[in-house]
Amino acid sequence: MEYILAPSILSADFKVLGEQMKETEEAGAKYLHFDVMDGMFVPSISFGMPVLKSIKGATGQVMDAHLMVQEPIRYVEAFQKAGADIVTVHLEACEDIHATIEKIRECGMKVGLSVCPETDIKETETLIKEIDMLLIMSVHPGFGGQKFIPESLEKIRIARNMAKEQGFELDIQVDGGIYHNNVKEVLDAGVNIVVAGSAVFNGNPAENTRKFMEILKNYG
Ligand code: DX5
Ligand code: ZN
Repeated sequence: MEYILAPSILSADFKVLGEQMKETEEAGAKYLHFDVMDGMFVPSISFGMPVLKSIKGATGQVMDAHLMVQEPIRYVEAFQKAGADIVTVHLEACEDIHATIEKIRECGMKVGLSVCPETDIKETETLIKEIDMLLIMSVHPGFGGQKFIPESLEKIRIARNMAKEQGFELDIQVDGGIYHNNVKEVLDAGVNIVVAGSAVFNGNPAENTRKFMEILKNYG
């Protein structure tokens, strides 16, 4: 199983976003996590399609769009046009999750499904066969720089077991409050894609990415 770092640009310095992305890519981060907030599903507003379109191609990184958006089915095509490679939607935000998953597939992108901390992970049990990646939120979505919720570890373990029982290897991503000093715990629980915002972009992004990659490369 491949262990991947997905730096979240929510904490980047937007004056020099392209340069910072490049630094993370050169230090080994294969994905770039793009947090979209609509002011409805979550209280805050971040950025959307025009920003993605502008940064697409600044690096060769996989554009991993996390839509914290009510009824994201409305924007799937627009994100595909803007350059998303993976579109992750929240189970809690979709009236028809099957139709939303189908729409992402039709647009030729990978499908991510996310659950908030208060959502029972068992609700995804019948859905994981239809998706490429399960994103377990380890903070309440909406802001960077929050503290990791320890109960997330048990959810990750349950998710990894559910996939095992159904006989396949699922990409499991964790997002929120991940730092160099707790990343090993989420890997042990069963995560293989790690999102980190503050821990990458506060300080020196190249150095911070390298430190994460050392841990991820030596894992397993
Ligand atoms: C939270 C976002 C996260 C966030 C992670 O709503 O989905 O991607 O930026 O930030 P840190 O790593 O700072 O907790
Ligand atoms: Zn995110």
